[in-house]
Order: sequence, then structure tokens, then C-alpha cells
Amino acid sequence: MSETLTIRRPDDWHTHLRDNDLLKGVAPFTARQFARAIVMPNLSPPMTDVAGVSAYRDRIIAALPEGSDFTPLMTLYLTDDTDPAEVERGFASGTFVAAKLYPAHATTGSAHGVTDIRNIYPVLEKMQAIGMPLLIHGEVTDNHVDIFDREAVFIERTLVQLVADMPALKIVFEHITTQEAADFVEGSGETIAATITPQHLHINRNAMLVGGIRPHAFCLPVAKREKHRQALRKLATSGCTRVFLGTDTAPHAKDLKESACGCAGIFNAPFALESYVTVFDDEGALDKFEAFASLNGPAFYGMPVNETTITLEKAPVTVPDKIDANGTIIVPFHAGETLRWRLA
Ligand code: NCD
Ligand code: ZN
Repeated sequence: MSETLTIRRPDDWHTHLRDNDLLKGVAPFTARQFARAIVMPNLSPPMTDVAGVSAYRDRIIAALPEGSDFTPLMTLYLTDDTDPAEVERGFASGTFVAAKLYPAHATTGSAHGVTDIRNIYPVLEKMQAIGMPLLIHGEVTDNHVDIFDREAVFIERTLVQLVADMPALKIVFEHITTQEAADFVEGSGETIAATITPQHLHINRNAMLVGGIRPHAFCLPVAKREKHRQALRKLATSGCTRVFLGTDTAPHAKDLKESACGCAGIFNAPFALESYVTVFDDEGALDKFEAFASLNGPAFYGMPVNETTITLEKAPVTVPDKIDANGTIIVPFHAGETLRWRLA
């Protein structure tokens, strides 16, 4: 009998499900692994109002396989012009559960993002008052700042002040990639949480650049030095209750990644749990996996935990070189590798 691990069904607190044909191709992978997922609003055009988010939610539900009980948890895309009343209306009606702050031009689909956080202070004050979480892509976009330093500089320049100004605002520092971010989150109070992706637990920047440039290891925030990966593994497996699973699965067609200007984003949804659990096993922390995957996220968002369970077994599974997602060919994270754990 192989070793097994049974945990409450996990949720994914950071996904990109895209739209139209690609949505139909990728949503089943997330729905197969997770009960719920926070769906990012960086479509083209972005999801900036209640009506748009509500219609997108309907398209996601329609894209799910027959009989799926997956629940998309929607988010609003903040711009310099977001109206606090619209935010309150959408949160009160349950159309969205959080709002996403993309600094303008930080990443894929962020062209309409916020140019200066002070522009949205009235919105953030409203969110603080109604208990609505702010999800942050935490990188500065200043051309003078090296891309490997953009997250650490964001903490110094923006996050510290924001937390001082809005001490009761719930903030999720998304997809953290640095020792600085890990230290910041660990040292913060109850209002500050973070998500960590599987890729930032598995790879450092060598994976992108040694032996040739490897576009399928490129995402934003970009993977950093080994010491940062080690800090993230330590935090993820530490038992800190304010850290939870968020894959940042971000599918792009193979040919758009293998290009002179390849898109940022790693498609990790098909084997996300297998990828994460391997890390917890390597760190001797399988006993911490259920909290990270299934308990901490709902607790922070103020939602019930899932009642059903899943079982992972210690048995090999080989990740395919590519996946046909309803006509779009995508190279998944761990392509061609054999992982030691699989979903039973
Ligand atoms: C994301 C995408 O492709 O939408 N890309 C990525 O590299 N993570 C955007 C994001 O979350 O930064
Ligand atoms: Zn993302």
C-alpha cells in the first residue's frame, strides 16, 4: 500500500481562468482539483464593474463540465476611476468577494491598473469599512528599479505606508517571491496574508536562464535567487495561518510564450496539488499541508471550509509535454517530469 494523505478539499486563492474558448479549455483543470477559486479579473477589457463581473461568472459556470460543483469566487479590477459605491454594491450582493490591485503595467492585463495608490484611497477606505479583502500584485513598475527588486521595493515604498494608513484593511499579498515578502507577512498582524505559487516553491531563476532561455519558467513576479525560494518553502510549511495556496495558474498558448517577447505566466492548474504536496513532503511537513491548502484561506476570507475530502497518494504521475486546452496548445508546469504524488 502506498502512503496516502486525506485532507479537506482545497481551494485555489489565485487563478486566471481567461475567457471564451480558452476558458472552456482550462476551467475543468481547476475545477477538478479545487472546490473554489478566486478568479482574477485581468481580462481584456478588465472586469471593472458589477455587471461585467456577474456576466463573467455566468460564462465560467457555463464552461464547467457537467455535474461540476466548483464555485468561482469573483474579483473586481481596480482602476484610478473605481467608484467606492460600485465596490460596496458588488460586495454586498455577493457578485465579488475581493478587489485586485494591479499597479499599472506591472504584468499581463494590467494596462488599466492603478497609477498611484493614493488615487484609490476612498475605495480602500470603503473596503476597510465593509471588511472586503484587497488582493495586491506587489511590484513597483518604475523603470529604474531592477525587475528582481520590484517586490522588495514595493514593500518599502507602498505596502508599509498602506498598512499604516489602513490598519484594519484585509490584504492578501499575492504570489510572494522573496525573503523580504516572507518576512513582512510573517511579522505582520492578523490583517495581512499571502499566497504562494507552486513554481516559486520549486524553481529559482536558474530554471529560466541556465542552458538557454526557458519561457515556460517565466511568470511575474519573476522567480528569484535560491535563498528566496528557501524562505518561501520555510514560510509555506511553517504553519503560519495567514499563508495559503494560490497557484496563479496563468495559461498562455505555447507559441505566445515561445516568442521574441514571450508572455508571463505559468499554467500549473493540471497538477497543482501534486506539485505542492511534493514540496511539503520534501520539507517533512505533510502534517501542515491541509492548513495551507484547505483551512487558512477560508479562515482569512471568512468563509466555511469545504466538507468533502480528497486523497493524495505517493505514487508517480508523469506530466505531459503539452496540453490541448480546447484547441489551444499549452505547456504545463513540470512538463515531461514525473511527480512523486498524485490525486487518488
Ligand atoms: C498573469 C497572467 O498571465 O494573467 N501572469 C503571471 O505571470 N502571473 C498575471 C499575473 O498574475 O501577474
Ligand atoms: Zn496572477
